Amino acid sequence: MNAALLADPASTTGYLPARLVAARLLAPDIRLLEFAPEGAAAFPPHEAGAHIDVLLTIGGRRAVRSYSLLGDGRDPSRYAIAVRLDPEGQGGSAAMHALAVGDLLPVSAPRCHFPIALGASAHRLIAGGIGITAILSLATALVEGRAPVSLHYAARTADRLVFRSALAALVPGARFFAGDRGERLDLARALSDPQPGEALYVCGPARMIEEARRLAPVIGWPEGALRTELFGTRDPAGDLPFTLRLARTGGEWTVPPGRSIADVLAEAGLDPLLDCRRGECGLCVAKVAELRGEIAHRDRFLSEAEKAAGDRLCTCVSRARGTLVLDL
Ligand code: FES
Repeated sequence: MNAALLADPASTTGYLPARLVAARLLAPDIRLLEFAPEGAAAFPPHEAGAHIDVLLTIGGRRAVRSYSLLGDGRDPSRYAIAVRLDPEGQGGSAAMHALAVGDLLPVSAPRCHFPIALGASAHRLIAGGIGITAILSLATALVEGRAPVSLHYAARTADRLVFRSALAALVPGARFFAGDRGERLDLARALSDPQPGEALYVCGPARMIEEARRLAPVIGWPEGALRTELFGTRDPAGDLPFTLRLARTGGEWTVPPGRSIADVLAEAGLDPLLDCRRGECGLCVAKVAELRGEIAHRDRFLSEAEKAAGDRLCTCVSRARGTLVLDL
């Protein structure tokens, strides 16, 4: 039992207790974890592309990590996720790899920011690394629904192409790229020749998503055709601590590298509004009351004009230099 990793049960309001009932390595650094509901007959169902948040305590701090759910969501007795160990990370993946079968972990109800584009004429799926977890659930649901699907899946090494044989059987013609075999996913090629009504899904590291966002309109994908899902935390290297103040409720904190404004507010017991925690939904946007320094916007929610105005920011991902006073 890794009790030190688990969040204080007193602070888990809104989370569901989940018992780790099975775990195994899919690759040297990728672990499959299966949870069963504790004290309830079933978990809430989920749609393809959904994720859960897990609540951890890392180094005495409360931390939330999001993981895509595997499976089609129709088995309410299990939630399954796959977690890649990030040796350079901030402890979340290490905590998940340290969990022992039998451990209890608070998990959120599923949410989906990466849904299937209903009514699309075809679905082009592109996965990088552990981004395959979200793509796998989409592929399974789409194939079951007899929708036309294509797949490109790249990983750094052949043994990290997890679920490869299941995907090859599921999606005939799927393309796989193992970096250690000299196989490289050419994103411009994978995005070429968009068909009328086709939907494009990309889940992978930030640089893959940024590249897809840049290329898609150039190649001719219409606005709204591209759906993306980003997992993994930004490398905090280069981030500096900054001062955070709240104009209305008072209080001053230092936001250190590797912690978000929302993390700091949550640790102060202020219960900030949050949903995606990845700068996509906008629920955490706060108005800036005063800024002595500059804002580093890292979200995908605000428009370029809103970012340039500098009067609001997404507290889940964006940072500042100097002193930031929020209108809270
Ligand atoms: S919580 Fe979704 S943008 Fe911050």
